[in-house]
Amino acid sequence: MRINKFLADKGIASRRHADEMISAGRVTVNGEVAVLGAFISEEDEVAVDGNIVSKEEKKEEFYIMNKPKGVLCTASDDRGRKTVMDLLPEGAGRVFPVGRLDYETEGLLILTNDGDTAFRLTHPTSEIPKTYMARIEGTLTEKDLNPIRSGVELDGVLTKKCKAHIVETNKAYTKVHITITEGRNRQVRRMFEAIGRNVEFLKRISIGQLKLKGLDRGATRPLTEMEILYLKGL
Ligand code: URA
Repeated sequence: MRINKFLADKGIASRRHADEMISAGRVTVNGEVAVLGAFISEEDEVAVDGNIVSKEEKKEEFYIMNKPKGVLCTASDDRGRKTVMDLLPEGAGRVFPVGRLDYETEGLLILTNDGDTAFRLTHPTSEIPKTYMARIEGTLTEKDLNPIRSGVELDGVLTKKCKAHIVETNKAYTKVHITITEGRNRQVRRMFEAIGRNVEFLKRISIGQLKLKGLDRGATRPLTEMEILYLKGL
């Protein structure tokens, strides 16, 4: 098996990231610095940064979480803030979040140790639709959403066409469902900022056909076999 696939199967990194680690000289095979594209066999001992990678079968794990706001989407925080790792069920392995939700953003998050699937799901070419419920300060009309639908400029680059519609509006706030196929940094918040509006609450409610519904805030459950197959097919 190719060394990058071995590292991806073990949940160390995506194949692409494993190649970067190999190029950086961080990976050794039987004590020798590994070469890109090399094959390894059963007997070989692979190490990353000097740590031997166990050959034990790694069980694939996939979770769906309803991330609350005020929780970080990282493995650890040097300021001691709560992270999504604190919300995993007991016995969960070394999984990592697929993509990110901001500290202040709630909702559907997938966590896995399957590096290849995570890489594909977050790759810019994957264009998987992600739907958010955004509560905007004040009143909005459908017409106000037109620039958001056709694309606004963020860092000099237009956002792709997207779907958006109002689900509720009154004097105090407007609730909008917005579906984007990209995953740029703070994208939804910045799209509304681009039309001069402030997002006061943001929640991701679906990724493709995977829905948040039925999962309490802060709760996490393993994905079903069917859901895993669905994600792998995206
Ligand atoms: N858009 C945002 O602004 N924040 C997120 O966390 C996700 C999408």
